[in-house]
Amino acid sequence: TVGAAGWSRVAKASTGRVLASAGPLPRPFGVPLPVPPVARPVRSEHGTDFYEVEQREGRVEILPGRRTTVWGYDGIFPGPTFTARSGRRTLVQVRNSLTVPTVTHLHGGVTPPESDGYPTDLLLPARCAPGQTHDGMAGAHPGRTAVGYRSYEYPLPQQAATLWYHDHRMDFSAPQVWRGLAGFFLVSDQEEDRLPLPGGHRDVPLMLCDRSFAEDGSFRYPAHHGHDTFPDGVLGDVQLVNGAPWPVLEVSATRYRFRLLNASNARRYRLRLDAGDGKWGQFVQIGSDGGLLAAPQPLDAVDMAPGERFDVIVDFSAFPIGSKVTLHNSAARGGMRDVMRFHVVRREKDDSRVPSRLSASFETLSPGRAVPVRSFDFRRTHSADERQMWTINGRPFSTDTILASPHLGSVERWRFSSDFHHPVHLHLAQFQVTARGGRPPAATDAGWKDTVDVRPYEVVEVLVRFTGYKGRYMLHCHNLEHEDMAMMGNFQVI
Ligand code: C2O
Ligand code: CU
Repeated sequence: TVGAAGWSRVAKASTGRVLASAGPLPRPFGVPLPVPPVARPVRSEHGTDFYEVEQREGRVEILPGRRTTVWGYDGIFPGPTFTARSGRRTLVQVRNSLTVPTVTHLHGGVTPPESDGYPTDLLLPARCAPGQTHDGMAGAHPGRTAVGYRSYEYPLPQQAATLWYHDHRMDFSAPQVWRGLAGFFLVSDQEEDRLPLPGGHRDVPLMLCDRSFAEDGSFRYPAHHGHDTFPDGVLGDVQLVNGAPWPVLEVSATRYRFRLLNASNARRYRLRLDAGDGKWGQFVQIGSDGGLLAAPQPLDAVDMAPGERFDVIVDFSAFPIGSKVTLHNSAARGGMRDVMRFHVVRREKDDSRVPSRLSASFETLSPGRAVPVRSFDFRRTHSADERQMWTINGRPFSTDTILASPHLGSVERWRFSSDFHHPVHLHLAQFQVTARGGRPPAATDAGWKDTVDVRPYEVVEVLVRFTGYKGRYMLHCHNLEHEDMAMMGNFQVI
């Protein structure tokens, strides 16, 4: 075993610069996996569920024996899990009891533009800190500003899928998500209900993210997360799952459904199931960002860039009772190669199955229908004064530049290129990957996506379908440090 000090040293050697924690790191697989509580509506009527959630500070124990102040939805990290129904309206009233402006975006949601969490549609704190004014906080970016609370409307005209919500404040998403402003939002529908998939306590959301801690247990985040110091974005040296460091989950020798979410600011994962003695387990992918696949596909490894979700089944009956199966990240070094562990502790009756056909309504988009072809180049450039900037098609974000105006109901062919790893994310619209680096897409590109990892000097082609609403939406890099450094652009659905 490697001691705490050794761990941070190894972590630093990984690709990208890792922000080291101070003080001892916890021993892996020492704490049970927490599962975030499910949010309950304050009332339900006329096809609408009303929720109230408060953004506030909370004091939680993440590192054993130390206290961490989080900025959480309801003061917890991850925030409560919303469970919603396809086509049924969810109204969430968010109250901001923090001392900073916030923006809430439902990632993967087909949401009207006013509720989409545009980065300048600020929710200012209910109460200003001494010496601050709301005028000052709204800053240089005019948007639809609210004070104290704001209601977000989610009509959810979309299929069952694993969505998530997180902060999207202009220039500050990275530090605010790092401090805890993120949670799950699960959409279910009839098609999914009819499938004999594992459910109940065997349907587990897993939010993966990395963090660094100061000696006193507080989150550590660089004061300047600029490109020169952290060109890859900020990486931590403590792996969290559902907010707990390297947790363990006791499982029965049955099938489990895991909704994997990469909620990291910048870390990428290549997940595998290490059963020890050179034996590896298998995932069966049933869903992607946008919902169920047409048919399940077995995967030995799951590649996840920030923002992506993979809905997978793991069948623990493949392992003898007593097995320890480690969720392993082979994209990392040192202690960060461990993510969490499963202990197979008992036998149990299992009525679940993975049917050979999942989503009967899945429609494979055909390139023939996609008329406009648009290219988006994600690149680091230098401004006149030699400052580095992250840009799309050579320009940093501006609220009034529209990069594309697709028609509502249309399908377009979009092409993403980059000089670097950039997870490209679109609001509102979902897409299917048709080519990667001039070749057919990877197995892990399957299904409806809203986020795709564009690797260095690679062109990724997708067919995007614009459904739901007209209005201004955005596409951006989901490396949150790149996003905060202006790697965002607008498209206007007309
Ligand atoms: Cu998950 Cu615009 O973001
Ligand atoms: Cu990027």
